[in-house]
Amino acid sequence: MTLKKKYALGNLVLPSNILYAPLAGCSDFAFRKMSSRFTPGLIFCEMVKMDALVRNDRGTFEMLKFSEDMHPIGGQLCGSKPEMAANSARILEGLGFDVIDLNCGCPVDKVTKDGSGSGLLKNPEKIGEIISNIVAAVKVPVTVKIRIGWDEAHINATEVTAIAEAAGAVSICIHGRTREQAYRGPARWGPIKECKAAANKIKVVANGDIFSPEDAERCFKETGADALLIARGTMGNPWIAEQIIDHLEKRPYKIRTSQESCLALQEHINEIKKEKTEKGVILDTRRISGWYIKGIPNAGEVRNALCHAESVSEIDAILDTLLTTLFTTT
Ligand SMILES: Cc1cc2nc3c(=O)[nH]c(=O)nc-3n(C[C@H](O)[C@H](O)[C@H](O)COP(=O)(O)O)c2cc1C
Repeated sequence: MTLKKKYALGNLVLPSNILYAPLAGCSDFAFRKMSSRFTPGLIFCEMVKMDALVRNDRGTFEMLKFSEDMHPIGGQLCGSKPEMAANSARILEGLGFDVIDLNCGCPVDKVTKDGSGSGLLKNPEKIGEIISNIVAAVKVPVTVKIRIGWDEAHINATEVTAIAEAAGAVSICIHGRTREQAYRGPARWGPIKECKAAANKIKVVANGDIFSPEDAERCFKETGADALLIARGTMGNPWIAEQIIDHLEKRPYKIRTSQESCLALQEHINEIKKEKTEKGVILDTRRISGWYIKGIPNAGEVRNALCHAESVSEIDAILDTLLTTLFTTT
């Protein structure tokens, strides 16, 4: 498979098959605002816990806030209780999410210890049960995101693909690492190709180590996947979907200059300002600035200054000086 400009996911038609991943602690409102400017096929919110949703946790609903321009948007559920899965999926559907995804990939101990996230890979039948319950509870397409297995001795992505398909999921996204690997070592795309071969009608989405348009082209070729999901490659590169599309359509893609990356950082911070308190802006600036400025001259110095800024006006002044310097020296 390769690029599709109209990509069907159940009854939904996405603008492309280049999708942006759920990223806990990252794919928040401001991040998604930046992503939405470049029209990826689908934008995900960070994962939310099923139990937090059903107990009406305010912070969780805050994480799920979105604006019209973020459609099509996916919500991702993390949990392992089939009953609760149905109720929490209904809540996401009620909030207006276009797609509901089940997280079977989170490697964090505190998530897997109750059998959630990648802990579900140890119990594939349970994945089927949860998906069936969600599918029965909502009208929107239901998808699932997994890793290739729990560890080297238990690679079971093809088995899970068959189970997810039988349970009614329209798509399965496979991150080409085991839970044991966490984020270490290169992602393996071979098992994703095997899932595609095992799939009948379920769509197979490849994920892992796609950081450039060339990676995207290679991943399509090597896996035959129906779609690609980009995660870390979107950080500081909200335009990566546009670059991938240009490249796959044989047009030269636009490489951002240092000035453009810094302007994007400024715009991202401006989006954060609309959502957060001063303290929140300061903390988020520390978290995101490295993504955008890594290639610019004196990146270390600038990052250090932004990380030590104690007010929003100080952040603004650092960025203004940086942009003036960049625009006058290059
Ligand atoms: C900071 C961070 C947060 C993540 N949060 C989620 C999440 O909420 N849900 C999920 O399914 N995967 C999550 N992931 C995994 C990514 O979606 C993706 O599967 C993984 O990073 C591999 O893709 P990549 O090589 O393109 O980054 C997260 C990854 C990172 C680095």
